[in-house]
Amino acid sequence: MIEVQKIKDGSKFENFLKTEAGEDLFAKAEKVSKVLSSGIMTGNEGLGMIALDKVQGEYSIREKSGMAHSVLMLGSNSYLNLSTHPKVMKAAVSALNKFGYGMGAVSNYAGITDIHKELESRIADFYGTDAAIVFPSGYGTNVGVISALCNEGDVIINDSANHASIFDGCRLSGAEIKVFPHSDMKGLERVLKKIPQEQTGRLIITDGVFSMDGDIAKLDLITQLAGEYKCRVMVDDAHGVGIVGPTGKGSAEYYDVMDKIDLNVGMLSKSPGGLGGYCAASAEIVDFLRLYARTFFFSTALPASIAGGLNEVFKLFQNDEAGREILWDKINYLKAKLVEAGFDIAYSQSAIIPVMIYDEEKLFKIHAELRENGLYTNIVTYPAVRRKECRLRLCAMKELTFKQIDRAVDILKIIGHKYGIV
Ligand SMILES: Cc1ncc(COP(=O)(O)O)c(C=O)c1O
Repeated sequence: MIEVQKIKDGSKFENFLKTEAGEDLFAKAEKVSKVLSSGIMTGNEGLGMIALDKVQGEYSIREKSGMAHSVLMLGSNSYLNLSTHPKVMKAAVSALNKFGYGMGAVSNYAGITDIHKELESRIADFYGTDAAIVFPSGYGTNVGVISALCNEGDVIINDSANHASIFDGCRLSGAEIKVFPHSDMKGLERVLKKIPQEQTGRLIITDGVFSMDGDIAKLDLITQLAGEYKCRVMVDDAHGVGIVGPTGKGSAEYYDVMDKIDLNVGMLSKSPGGLGGYCAASAEIVDFLRLYARTFFFSTALPASIAGGLNEVFKLFQNDEAGREILWDKINYLKAKLVEAGFDIAYSQSAIIPVMIYDEEKLFKIHAELRENGLYTNIVTYPAVRRKECRLRLCAMKELTFKQIDRAVDILKIIGHKYGIV
């Protein structure tokens, strides 16, 4: 039996990863289970609520304790409320009725329909590329694309704040992994300068909108450096698609460099409100990925209902009719209110707004009290960011009313004052 007291001081996420000498492989799970049931503060208290209704501006949840109550939702990635858009849901139901609820096969066998093919061509049209490939998971998109295209001997250059799925894809590829400090273009150039001339398989990867900070990658400078140092460029615009740029085409459109991005990766699970991911690129690259991206080749296709809903989403995106301007009014209002109240919101340029706390113990308490008071936000600390940069992660949603935003900021102010954050 493992004594709770003994592991109390070591109850941090990373301390449970290793099997100590003499321990059974599963001892780590027993230790974590002890910590979770002991009342030691781990941050997990705030996780795992049950939605009792469609996720929208204000809706009902059930807590772990069994208590049901309503919360203001400032933690959903469905920024444009497309996951509950009537046209999108109608298209999903129609595809569900026609094709059933699962595809029963991978895409290269019997897993796709004309609805899936339509989705790929809509995504390609949206980016102005020859072709696009749709993966059944966003995480698997990054892992599959990177590990297919990069190999031993190649070099991948990453922004330090890139999403975990990008780093996992890099590790799996076997390529050399280089990292530059977040959005530091001098740092990027320093890395590029040191790459040996003969190492010509080079890929720079960056999030478009950074998922924990909400800022936009400096794609004007990144693409310029990529040109100078002969690198290919991949952008994961999971949180930019449909939202940033003059017509909502994302981070590359924001900097007017859409034609300089080799691999336009995005997730269908955030603003598109569904599930999956894609890579829009040249026809040759897409054909290559269909054969070599193992998370595509060996993974069952998206249900037709999701693909059907997403076709409606890309119709809305293509015509810039998804309500982007209304969302931006809410983003700007929420940011202004937070700044006026004295919160540190770092440098957000999107629907993701961090509220910096910098103290993990306070973060867990603040998060729990916000929720008790009817406000849901995401909680972000290690391993998503460094502990000393821990924060609440707020997301603006199109259908939040100005009154709901006022109420949310009022709750934040009360709890923020209590803990000396404002
Ligand atoms: C930037 C980024 N890329 C990839 C992913 C993975 O996407 P999914 O949740 O659809 O697997 C996420 C999800 O959080 C993300 O934020």
